[in-house]
Amino acid sequence: MSRVALVTGAGSGIGYATSLKMAYKGYTVILGDIREDIKEKAREIESKTSSRVIGLQVDVSDWNSCKEFYENAIKILGIDHVDILVNNAGIIRDALFVKMTPEQWDQVIKVHLYGAFNCTKQVVEGMIKYNWGRIINMSSASWLGNNGQANYAAAKAGIIGFTKTLARELGKYNIMVNAIVPGFIDTPMIASVPEKVRKIIIDRIPLKRVGSPEDVANVITFLCSEEASYINGAIIEVTGGLVL
Ligand SMILES: NC(=O)c1ccc[n+]([C@@H]2O[C@H](COP(=O)([O-])OP(=O)(O)OC[C@H]3O[C@@H](n4cnc5c(N)ncnc54)[C@H](O)[C@@H]3O)[C@@H](O)[C@H]2O)c1
Repeated sequence: MSRVALVTGAGSGIGYATSLKMAYKGYTVILGDIREDIKEKAREIESKTSSRVIGLQVDVSDWNSCKEFYENAIKILGIDHVDILVNNAGIIRDALFVKMTPEQWDQVIKVHLYGAFNCTKQVVEGMIKYNWGRIINMSSASWLGNNGQANYAAAKAGIIGFTKTLARELGKYNIMVNAIVPGFIDTPMIASVPEKVRKIIIDRIPLKRVGSPEDVANVITFLCSEEASYINGAIIEVTGGLVL
């Protein structure tokens, strides 16, 4: 059987583009998302490719939801582990710190940091058992700090520490753990950015354009491949040079 990849936040943006690309490449793909239409998204990808693709609802911030999701997914596919995990699910709840509510702080930390913990815990033993694995964690250029994103920056900086620690601990099992730092990528996540601000950001990007979800999916797919067998603990920027 082909290698199996589990992608969270797979119903939209970067997660969807990654799932599609991986399915085209012949991976079996498990799509997880809190969206109700995730099964349809999976069917859509399956019909475009010749790979097996399933979609199941999950709330990555919730331990029990992740456990149930993983158990159901491997049962449906008749397998006992997955080879690849892309911790991609994400939200923003931007506000200047003086106005940020405890709920906005909590939601963002939970989806990104608890989400990465909850999902990685499901898959890691199986990867160790088979002495092969790829874990990709989505950080953000905002990890360096960004006005209105104290919650998001803290979560995305946490993802860097999480990645580097797992890379140290799991390398001996042939599990590569890497983080992606996307810049300004054209997905629903940035749809609410006002046109004026969008222009200012684009002007700071040497390539003078926003990134596409496919720009990021291409890098994720490479890092998940057999070829990426000596990249571990790396922070890969996909920003068009926004952060230099
Ligand atoms: N778009 C950008 O410019 C950008 C930049 C840097 C980092 N990122 C990161 O890339 C990742 C993907 O973002 P995107 O731009 O594709 O956004 P997106 O909004 O298009 O997709 C995010 C997906 O995550 C899902 N999700 C949200 N909360 C969830 C939960 N609790 N459980 C399961 N699924 C959940 C959403 O339903 C959605 O389908 C995120 O981690 C984001 O922080 C994006």
